[in-house]
Amino acid sequence: MATSIKKAIKTASNTSIVLLADKKTKWSAYQLTEKEVAWINQKIKADEQLIMINQFDRLVFVLITKDKQERHAQLEDLRNSGSKICSALNTHKQGSVIIEDVLNDTEAALAIAEGIALSNYQFLKYRGEADKEKNSLQTIAINSKKLDKKDLERLAIIVEATSLARTLVNEPQSYLNAPKLAEEIQKMGDTAGFQVEVLNKTKIEALKMGGLLAVNKGSQTPPTFTIMEYKPRGAVNKKPLVLVGKGVVYDTGGLSLKPTPNSMDTMKCDMAGAAAVSCAIFAVAKAKLKYHVIGLVPATDNRPGENAYTPGDVIEMYSGKTVEVLNTDAEGRMLLADALAYAKKYKPELVLDFATLTGAAAAAIGPYGIVCMGTADEKIKNKLKKSGNYVYERLVEFPFWDEYKNLIKSDLADMKNIGGPIGGAITAGKFLEYYTDYPWMHFDIAGPAFINNNDSYRGKNGTGVGVRLLFDFILNASK
Ligand code: BES
Ligand code: ZN
Ligand code: ZN
Repeated sequence: MATSIKKAIKTASNTSIVLLADKKTKWSAYQLTEKEVAWINQKIKADEQLIMINQFDRLVFVLITKDKQERHAQLEDLRNSGSKICSALNTHKQGSVIIEDVLNDTEAALAIAEGIALSNYQFLKYRGEADKEKNSLQTIAINSKKLDKKDLERLAIIVEATSLARTLVNEPQSYLNAPKLAEEIQKMGDTAGFQVEVLNKTKIEALKMGGLLAVNKGSQTPPTFTIMEYKPRGAVNKKPLVLVGKGVVYDTGGLSLKPTPNSMDTMKCDMAGAAAVSCAIFAVAKAKLKYHVIGLVPATDNRPGENAYTPGDVIEMYSGKTVEVLNTDAEGRMLLADALAYAKKYKPELVLDFATLTGAAAAAIGPYGIVCMGTADEKIKNKLKKSGNYVYERLVEFPFWDEYKNLIKSDLADMKNIGGPIGGAITAGKFLEYYTDYPWMHFDIAGPAFINNNDSYRGKNGTGVGVRLLFDFILNASK
């Protein structure tokens, strides 16, 4: 069960509380002893931002907002504090917490709640002692004058959708193979209210999706191609926004096998793009945003096998273009190319693809942001970057010069599926560009999709990156 987030009705003196305050706050209103107030003042003097008082039956947190900070950085600080508050609450077996918005800054109060709720995520499905390990915290209440029911609902939806994306990523391929991924998306469509059509192998063959079929050749499990559509009455966009997500449920590298340990261990995360896209649509549909969105998820595992595609193969893609395969581990672009070419039929206003595509992107900026590139105009790029800053899934735009195209030229076919030693994230993007004829942006989330160590409210393992970014971008576009 996800943490519930609601409007505070009454404040009980034994419920843990977070006071969103500043240096000028009058503490007398909050049932604190003189000693406690002295302690708070002392901590404030020492420039501490998060102050905790253990009153035995409850915890009192005082959270001092830093001024002179850019708003998005301030909100991120609050989410991070929310994460620390969440650990303390669970350590002290607290079931609920109230955020008291002393400053009358609803957005800030919501950011704290977001940080707490996202930090409270757990994936205990395979734990024998799950009951014992389960977090105590169940409810977050907010007391803020200007709090709108819609804001609360949206926050709850964002947390639910991000948690769902994390779970999809955290599920191993022994459970989540390509047909299962499609089935999970179908369930999400039923719950949130969007259409889902799953193309099976026969249909994919009939459509000649050569890229997806090539990657699937080493597998014992058929591929799927899932099409989502959310088309609300009164949508503000005439042409749809199409979201494409890489759905490689496991990437062994294929015959160009990845070495273990290290590089293969976490490759169940190679469908994080599919998770981001499907869970973003889940959120958009649940929130009933007035925006027409289509989602495409080509899915398979990538394995060596008797019949696996090989380095040296030439593949005819869905678009009709031919690709010389020189590394079967560069599989993501093979199936994304088919989905991007398929997207043309919707005459989209914009296409955004999300993919754990290259180690090069991860090496360049690590987990701290998302590498992006593409052909959309500056206005769209700026809106995306603004959302990126706001939700703190920051975008780093890489150069997308045509010189990089030269690096994927092939003597044998229309292009090859790898570039040389330079610009690995960009040559992958340039490969994809061949299959687009509409405004498009590519997001390489190989860095932030999966993290091995606990990182604040992003948690550990699957982060659900992309969901909050996409939701904020679509929310703004739908207004
Ligand atoms: N799924 C990987 C990329 C990846 C790396 C995702 C690290 C998450 C973390 C992708 O399919 C891949 O193997 N890419 C190759 C491409 C190369 C062969 C051109 C890579 O980046 O090494
Ligand atoms: Zn690969
Ligand atoms: Zn991959």
